[in-house]
Amino acid sequence: MKEVISLAKQRGFVFQSSEIYGGLKSCYDYGPLGVELKRNVMNEWWRSMVYEREDIVGLDASIIMHPRVWEASGHLASFSDPLVDCHNCKERFRGDKAPRVAPGTEVEYVEGGKKKGKTLRGKVDERGYVCPNCGSPDLAPERSFNLMFRTSLGSVDPLQEISAALAGKSLSLEEVRRTLEEKMKETAVYLRPETAQAMFVQFLNIQQALALKIPFGIAQMGKSFRNEVTVEHFIFRSCEFEQMEMEYFVEPGKQKEALEHWKNERLRWYQRYANDKSKFRLRQHGPDELAHYADDCYDVEYDYPWGWGELEGIASRTDYDLKKHAEFSGVPLTYFDQEKTDPASGKKGWRYTPYVIEPAAGATRATLMFLLDAFAYDSPRPDAEGNVKLRRVLKLHPRLAPYKVAVLPLVKRDGMPELARELVQQFFREGVNAKYDEQHAIGKRYSRHDEVGTPYCLTVDGDSVKDGTVTIRERDTTHQERIKIAEALAVVRKRLESV
Ligand code: GAP
Repeated sequence: MKEVISLAKQRGFVFQSSEIYGGLKSCYDYGPLGVELKRNVMNEWWRSMVYEREDIVGLDASIIMHPRVWEASGHLASFSDPLVDCHNCKERFRGDKAPRVAPGTEVEYVEGGKKKGKTLRGKVDERGYVCPNCGSPDLAPERSFNLMFRTSLGSVDPLQEISAALAGKSLSLEEVRRTLEEKMKETAVYLRPETAQAMFVQFLNIQQALALKIPFGIAQMGKSFRNEVTVEHFIFRSCEFEQMEMEYFVEPGKQKEALEHWKNERLRWYQRYANDKSKFRLRQHGPDELAHYADDCYDVEYDYPWGWGELEGIASRTDYDLKKHAEFSGVPLTYFDQEKTDPASGKKGWRYTPYVIEPAAGATRATLMFLLDAFAYDSPRPDAEGNVKLRRVLKLHPRLAPYKVAVLPLVKRDGMPELARELVQQFFREGVNAKYDEQHAIGKRYSRHDEVGTPYCLTVDGDSVKDGTVTIRERDTTHQERIKIAEALAVVRKRLESV
């Protein structure tokens, strides 16, 4: 993981946000290589969801939605983490993620959470966990912390309103808080914590505008925001991240079959682009893990350097969301199937609220996973200067690789740069992302492109100018062969398409 983080910075994939100011916790910037990799991941998802299927359409909704959306979805009331303070070491942590210890067990921990010091003993209470930092069971009660980022919309300054409401009054802490909440609520809007809700809210518009027949899906990718208490493992969990979600609407009773299909489909999608297919698995949620809206759920999990963890959730969301939005908005969100018989009345024509299967993926999390999967050290071999070294290489799937081909003039003279630039232009014209690179010795350039995952390097040398041939070098095998310049585009294309 450390090596991947350091490579990500060195080679321009991911930087800490606002690094020159000391960085901003859990915020990251995707550099020139990272933006390509992330976009390629997202484009591949869109291609498989929207372009290659007749039954799924796209949506790009606004990040800020009507605040009632979050009341209806339950996010305002229950999208929160149970936060706990440790009395011993003062760590603040999530109760649901803390190490489990059977209630009543007597445990030992060190005073103040230091390495050495007085040993203390205590009993684990009925919550059944201890502090993840020092192991103490001496903990404050759980407090709820809403994960949505709140801001205000409109030209009214909420601070002015609040100040006016509080000025000159002698209020208790509780009264001040209530006044604040009431005044804030008048203009409060939220940055979406998931992309999913827009697909429910726009269900009817989309279904009617395109005259879609059930089953059909709506797909959306974009930014989501969560004020996560625990941010961890680089871009695995961050406060601003990107999601790729699809809501698939089915007839009531067909949800099991659809869940079965989508869980396998999504597992296969990841494995198709990964080197080590054994590092993926499906895990069904236990009844106590299920979200309030779900009757079943599977996670696609990946074997990260710190163990198995979630990559994507595929939930059977029942008819919960459409029904809630119908209730809160007063607009019926139903579907009428004139071919079907209503099971209740036995009459032809059935109006129902569709059930939903939701494959919900993280684009930034998938980007990390593909970096981890691709990162490799090859067996030692001599470089161009004859030094035996371990080769660092990113074995990214060619469709995900930021550059598909690098064109390298051997030296910066004798017509080689001109010829190389001409070749790059040919690739550009055909929409293949190529990179012209003349900096440093050829061995160094090969290493650089191995490290950013460029599948092919084309080297233009003295013979190229004379006989119209170039050397093509393959990233994974380092195998080199001579091909005609006139055929270079077709050769690279064919090899890219064959995987
Ligand atoms: N609409 C359902 C939903 O949002 P989720 O399991 O909370 O479900 C779906 O999120 C996916 O989004 C996760 O599997 C993960 O890949 C990604 N994700 C969620 N929170 C994230 C965070 N704080 N940072 C990065 N990715 C996150």
